[in-house]
Amino acid sequence: MYDFAVFWDWMAFAVRWLHVITAIAWIGSSFYFIALDLGLNRNIPGPADGEEWQVHGGGFYHIQKYLVAPEQMPDHLTWFKWESYATWLSGAALLMIVYWVGGELYLIDAQKADLALWQGILISAASLTVGWLVYDFLCKSGLGERPTLLMVLLFVLLVAMGWGYNQIFTGRAMMLHLGAFTATIMTANVFFIIMPNQRIVVDDLQNGRTPDPKYGKIAKLRSTHNNYLTLPVVFLMLSNHYPLAFATEYNWIIASLVFLMGVTIRHYFNTRHARTGNPTWTWLVTALLFLAIIWLSTAPMYKPLEEAEAQPLTSYEERFASAEGFEEAHDVVLGRCSMCHAREPVWEGILWAPKGVLLETEADIARNAKQIYLQAGVSHAMPPANVTYMEPEDRDAIIRWVRNAGL
Ligand code: HEC
Repeated sequence: MYDFAVFWDWMAFAVRWLHVITAIAWIGSSFYFIALDLGLNRNIPGPADGEEWQVHGGGFYHIQKYLVAPEQMPDHLTWFKWESYATWLSGAALLMIVYWVGGELYLIDAQKADLALWQGILISAASLTVGWLVYDFLCKSGLGERPTLLMVLLFVLLVAMGWGYNQIFTGRAMMLHLGAFTATIMTANVFFIIMPNQRIVVDDLQNGRTPDPKYGKIAKLRSTHNNYLTLPVVFLMLSNHYPLAFATEYNWIIASLVFLMGVTIRHYFNTRHARTGNPTWTWLVTALLFLAIIWLSTAPMYKPLEEAEAQPLTSYEERFASAEGFEEAHDVVLGRCSMCHAREPVWEGILWAPKGVLLETEADIARNAKQIYLQAGVSHAMPPANVTYMEPEDRDAIIRWVRNAGL
C-alpha cells in the first residue's frame, strides 16, 4: 500500500540520520584540529612551526605544523571541507522537510503572524542568506582588526535574529532557524573564506611565490568564530525535542544565554588545550547561566485554553476539521490523548504537554492530523503502552478520518 505520510516520515528519519553523521564528522574533525593546534610543542628545531606526538588505535602519529606551508608542496594533500558542506546540505534538506513541507504545523504560528505557507518559507530562506551577508560585511569592515568588538556585534546580531524569528514563527521554528542561521555562517566561512584563502596560498607555493600571511590571519578569525558557535548550534538543533526550551515567550532570551554558555565552555577547553591555565570559574558561570535558563523556561508556555478556542481555524486546519469522520476521531482523541496532551495535563506525572503536542481544541486536533495518524493510527506509539486503552476501532476511526482528508 502506498502511503505518502508514512514514506515521508521515513525520509525525514533518513535525512536526519545522515545529518547527524555528517555533523559528527565535521564537529569531530574541527575539535580535533583545535586541540591539536593549541597543544603543539612550538620549541622545535627546523622549519616547522610546531609538532605533537599522539597515540591512537595501535599506532604513533608524529604531526608537524607549517604555519604558511612547507618548502615543497606534498603530492598528496588532504583537505577538510566535505564534512562541513555535507552537514549544511543535509541540514538544509531536513529544514525543508520538517519546516517547509510541514510548515503548517511547525513553522507558521497564526497567533503570532497569519502568514501563508509560501510567505513563511520565503522568510525562512531569505533570513539565512541575509544573515550571512550582514555577518560577512561586519567581518570585512575595519572591525576585523578589533576581534572582541566584532564578537560582541556578532552576539547582538544573533540575539536580534532570535527575537525577530520569535515574532513570526513557532517557538521551535525560532530555535531551529537561529541554529540554522548560525550554522550557515559557519559553513559559509569555510566555503567562501577559509577554503579560497587556502587555495591562494597553495597556488602561490606551487608557482614559487611567497604567500601573504594575511590570508592565514583572515581564516583564523573566521575559524575562531566557528569554534565558539559550535556548541550553541548543537543545543539549538536539539532544542525542538524539549518544549521547556522553545515553548515559552522567553525562548529567544534562553537562546541568547546558550550562546554565552558556548563561549564559557569553549574558553575552558581552549585554555586547557593550550596549557595556559585551568579556568574553573568558567564552569561556575556556565552553571549560573544554565540555572537562569531553567528559571526562564517556567514562564507560561501556552496561551490559555479559552483564547486558543476562540481563534478561527486556518485553512489548513479547516481541511482536516471538515473531512468526513472528524467528529468520531475528535472524540477518540479527547477520550484517549487529551489527559496528557493538554495546556494543563491531568495525567499524574505529566506536567506539560509532551513534546509540546497539544490535542485539546478542534484546531489542535485538526492541525496535528498527520502526527496523530502516524503515532496512534498506523503505529501504536501512542498512547504510551496503551495506558488509555485505545481499541482497534479507535485507531481505525483516526485512519479513516485522515485518509478522507487526503493526507
Ligand atoms: C499518558 C500520557 C499520554 C497519552 C494518554 C498520550 N500521549 Fe502522546 N506523548 C506522551 C509522551 C510522554 C510523549 C513524548 C514521548 C517521547 O519522549 O518520545 C508523547 C508524544 C507524542 C507525540 C509527539 C511524538 C514526537 O516524537 O514528536 C504525538 C504526536 C503524540 N504523543 C500523540 C498522541 C496521541 C494521538 C495520543 C492519543 C491517541 C496520545 N499521544 C496519548 C504521553 C501521552
